[in-house]
Amino acid sequence: MKQKNILITGGAGFIGSHVVRLMVHKYPETNFVNLDLLTYAGNLENVADVAGNPNYTFVRGDIRNAEFLKDLFEKYNFDGVIHLAAESHVDRSIENPLAFVETNVLGTVNLLNTARNWWQDDFDDKLFYHISTDEVYGSLGKTGLFTEQTPYDPHSPYSASKAASDHFVRSYHNTYGMPTVISNCSNNYGPNQFPEKLIPLFINNIKNNKPLPVYGDGQYTRDWLYVLDHARAIDTIFNHGKSGETYNVGGFNEYTNIDLIHLLCDLMDDKLNRPAGTSRQLITFVKDRPGHDKRYAIDATKIKRELGWQPSVNFEEGLSKTIDWYLQNENWLKNVTSGDYQKYYDRMYAGR
Ligand code: NAD
Ligand code: TYD
Repeated sequence: MKQKNILITGGAGFIGSHVVRLMVHKYPETNFVNLDLLTYAGNLENVADVAGNPNYTFVRGDIRNAEFLKDLFEKYNFDGVIHLAAESHVDRSIENPLAFVETNVLGTVNLLNTARNWWQDDFDDKLFYHISTDEVYGSLGKTGLFTEQTPYDPHSPYSASKAASDHFVRSYHNTYGMPTVISNCSNNYGPNQFPEKLIPLFINNIKNNKPLPVYGDGQYTRDWLYVLDHARAIDTIFNHGKSGETYNVGGFNEYTNIDLIHLLCDLMDDKLNRPAGTSRQLITFVKDRPGHDKRYAIDATKIKRELGWQPSVNFEEGLSKTIDWYLQNENWLKNVTSGDYQKYYDRMYAGR
């Protein structure tokens, strides 16, 4: 039997690196090609431990470049695609929406086109798996959960670009019969997340005794999932999901930002041997994010019922492990916060 070749895009990023590690170890008979542009968010240190594995190859390249993708498919004759490469930060999308259209929409359509052309509409045993976000569903009121039937209502340039890419993936299934699956996941946290997102940014600031910029009143709610649980869900969906289907993935774990930040501060005080209450003093309420979505929460019963996946890591335990990782990986944090990071930080937070 031909050895399978699977393309993972964005595998040097936060979630992608955990997916790469899980898959490369779990399926030694399958070849995995990690395609990543290594933007500010991509970091080969995230996958350094798998670099020497015989079933793993890293390729630096751009999903916006159709010619490059064609050559890559020709070289590796992929049987499947797990597509995570994206611009992923809402605040950056507010600053520069076009970059999100180019990578998330155009890049995804390039990838769909290339796969379709290479497979020549013979889709036997092929699969295009697109990783998306719960933010495509918009914002919830005090009650209710996002299900796979919730109508799309994206509010930020980031979520609008992800929604558009989801629609394109569905259109390839509907129009050309391409086997596709999509999953929409809630907020991830864990090791290797770039410190522009709430949890790693606040861990870094607490460590350095810097203010913690809480947007608005802090009463925004997110549903948090440990990244390794998401990676397990992606493995489950890629191998057992039904073509044409969508799966919502979430932690059944809602926190308001301010409650989460209090918990984070208290855990950090404990780990840094600071008197209780020290880190909470760093909390600073700042100007809100424009168009800030009030509440996200996922109903993940379909994936549990149909594929047997459910979250396994309790939030306090996951948060504690995450803090330990950042405290133990000072060099990683130092490397990603050198260079342009300070400029980004000043630009994003100086005006608040
Ligand atoms: P990330 O920003 O950490 O990583 C994105 C990766 O994509 C980086 O390694 C980057 O170098 C790469 N990339 C960007 N542009 C590229 C291009 N043009 N060509 C090739 N590679 C490119 O993102 P993440 O948080 O790991 O998210 C991964 C995926 O999961 C995204 O599609 C995102 O929308 C989705 N998602 C993320 C979350 C979350 O909480 N982080 C939740 C749900 C869904
Ligand atoms: P974030 O990690 O950017 O994820 P998303 O916007 O995709 O949900 O933000 C999580 C929540 O934290 C969101 O409600 C915005 C808020 N937030 C702050 O209050 N301060 C910050 O500095 C950041 C980055 C986020």
